[in-house]
Amino acid sequence: MEKEILNMEEAANLFGVSMKTFIKLLKEENVPARKIGREWRFSKRALIDWLSRGNSKDYSSSEQDTRQYFEQVAGKWEEISSQYYDSSIINKIIDSGFLKDNMTVLDYGAGDGFIARGIAPYARKIIAIDTSGSMLDELERKAKSQGIANILTFECDINEVPLRSASVDLVCASMILHHIEEPRELIAEFHRVLKPEGILFIADFLPYEDEAFKNNMHDFHMGLDPVALEKWLIDIGFYSITIESMSSRPDKNIFVLTANKVYAE
Ligand SMILES: C[S@@+](CC[C@H](N)C(=O)[O-])C[C@H]1O[C@@H](n2cnc3c(N)ncnc32)[C@H](O)[C@@H]1O
Repeated sequence: MEKEILNMEEAANLFGVSMKTFIKLLKEENVPARKIGREWRFSKRALIDWLSRGNSKDYSSSEQDTRQYFEQVAGKWEEISSQYYDSSIINKIIDSGFLKDNMTVLDYGAGDGFIARGIAPYARKIIAIDTSGSMLDELERKAKSQGIANILTFECDINEVPLRSASVDLVCASMILHHIEEPRELIAEFHRVLKPEGILFIADFLPYEDEAFKNNMHDFHMGLDPVALEKWLIDIGFYSITIESMSSRPDKNIFVLTANKVYAE
């Protein structure tokens, strides 16, 4: 006979999401459940019924869609992303010479840890933040198999940077800003969490014209205009901005940008 009463792991599996995402759902929504003793139990029928009574309009925000997208593609992300960018982005950070072995680095929108894992040997600690628990599960799995032990992962709410002010030496935002409705607000958060001598590193798509790609990849912006970005950075208080374009494919180019929190000669 099929099981009707599920434990938390089975309930998360029923919805096809990670435990982290499921626990978040329990906190944010009225999911039918009862605590029996010290354990939560779920009725399979009630969960399916609750799911079917949902209304897609609740999830129409593009950033929620983005989160769902990355939850689904986490296991395939390495294969997908390799069509658009490669380790030359990581090499830009390493070759820049600004990594030091006593540094704390924030990798925001870390995904499966493409950047975090790439630079982990050169820093003391990497704080990897992402809205997708499944992407962070991938990061943890890959880091473990590579013997990397200095990456801490945090699942965050959209555009939240849950860190103290002036607490990190380097912020990396690789291929994330084009997913953000208001990149300027997030960049201001990066400025806040950077130590005075801190550095910001951004990698992203240059403006592209491909509506189908934008929709498939759940991009909010069709790339970013580095000139507009530079102006935002100056307004926010960054100095010594460098921008370099790197070709990836004929139709989608990538730029890398560095900026300092304080003015340096
Ligand atoms: C294109 S992937 C880039 C991953 C990685 N940084 C890289 O360079 O390969 C974008 C990542 O940002 C995450 N993300 C999207 N919107 C976010 C937000 N508002 N806050 C934090 N992470 C977000 C996604 O879950 C996904 O893992």
